[in-house]
Amino acid sequence: MQNRAGLVEKILKLKEKRKAIILAHNYQPPEIQDIADLRGDSLELSLKASKTDAEVIVFCGVFFMAETAKIVSPQKKVVIPVGSACCDMANMVSPEDVKALREKYPGIPVVTYVNSTAEVKALSDVCCTSANAIKVVGTFPDKKIIMLPDMNLARYVQRFYPDKEIIYFEGFCPFHHMLLPEDVMKAKKEHPSAVFIAHPECRPEVIDLADYVASTSGMLRLAKELPHKEFIIGTEVGLLYPLSKENPDKVFYHPAPEKMVCPSMKKIRLEDVLRALEELEFEVVLPEEVRIKAYNAVKRMLEIV
Ligand code: 13P
Ligand code: SF4
Repeated sequence: MQNRAGLVEKILKLKEKRKAIILAHNYQPPEIQDIADLRGDSLELSLKASKTDAEVIVFCGVFFMAETAKIVSPQKKVVIPVGSACCDMANMVSPEDVKALREKYPGIPVVTYVNSTAEVKALSDVCCTSANAIKVVGTFPDKKIIMLPDMNLARYVQRFYPDKEIIYFEGFCPFHHMLLPEDVMKAKKEHPSAVFIAHPECRPEVIDLADYVASTSGMLRLAKELPHKEFIIGTEVGLLYPLSKENPDKVFYHPAPEKMVCPSMKKIRLEDVLRALEELEFEVVLPEEVRIKAYNAVKRMLEIV
């Protein structure tokens, strides 16, 4: 068993040697966030990493995020320290599901949340994130739009377009979907001056109670910009670490800390990061045909936002 300082030292040395960059999603364990070169939401991490001259990307997050990094940085080696760290929501929709939807609704554009596999992205017209979904959908003149895989994000976007019909796939994030209005009401009662911010992956009844609805990076921005001192945070518990670190003068409460833990986001330990750098495992490999099609869907989104 190595001590933590020794592990960190080895990681940093090997990172230099490999010309690697370490990325950590906002939900990663504190010790992983602390050693990362960049911390952020899935898309911003992939985009920022693509602009560096690193030869290796070590993505501490879940598999679809590492795939996104590979989609935008095909010339770099992308590794994820634990290969089984997967997003339950991304795994709910298969390429066959997308093909079936396209057959059922011919000609209707498919807008796919980045929390999806590369194969699913490759079958989509455009991608979106939780931060830009409203804008992306708004660029389509079509009266009907298919959104997948998150029904909660789709139903949130629907609120902004009463003249459109958003046809959604019934996928969801089990951990955001588990947050109930009664959990939020209880937290609001306990902390009456706190602002409640919900992630759009939460169910509609929870969104109804929110003062703000935002992605993880949006929550970090709001916490900094708003004059309020207390916040109730409706997303995966991991976000409380960067929120508290960046805003030491503010207090962040979680309405259901025991329910909103994404196990896949907690799998990566410092030992795994070291092994990933030593063995360059687990490498993300995508068939070029899939990568190019998925890239086109991501690129179209980037042209809109
Ligand atoms: P963000 O894109 O808001 O970081 O969300 C990622 C995610 O997995 C939400 O559960
Ligand atoms: Fe996927 Fe939910 Fe985990 Fe985010 S919190 S990675 S959406 S399972």
